[in-house]
Amino acid sequence: KTVFVLNGPNLNLLGTREPQVYGAHTLADVEQLCQVACTRHGLALRFHQSNHEGQLLDWIHEAGRLHAQGALAGVILNAGAYTHTSIALMDAIKGTGVALLELHISNVFAREAFRHHSYLSPVARAVVCGLGVQGYALAVEAVAQW
Ligand code: DQA
Repeated sequence: KTVFVLNGPNLNLLGTREPQVYGAHTLADVEQLCQVACTRHGLALRFHQSNHEGQLLDWIHEAGRLHAQGALAGVILNAGAYTHTSIALMDAIKGTGVALLELHISNVFAREAFRHHSYLSPVARAVVCGLGVQGYALAVEAVAQW
């Protein structure tokens, strides 16, 4: 089966972006963590980042087609700030029926109030936040059991 790990806006800046919040690891490091965990579990990895909401929707739809064929393990999505704004992403998760693990590197609940609301959590099977980039590896571990 395949795991999609999708990253939204500004996550391409990982490593240089607010390192006190997001740490020093780059997105390439995160991909490597995910690849190691996927290989361990015999899963194929699709790892992507985009700053464009529509592109994230297209990847969720693609994951949905695999889901329909029984070939999807799940979608791990760090939607960045779209988490707090995007009804379209929520609708895509609902509409495709993919199993979602919502992920945040930082503990969004220890930050500004506008980060406390997520359009994705109500349609997520699980939420991981505040574990830093290690959360991605743990998320793959979890999805491998789904
Ligand atoms: C984030 C948290 C969001 O509030 C923020 O907009 C991000 C990253 C995280 O990984 O902690 O871009 O999703």
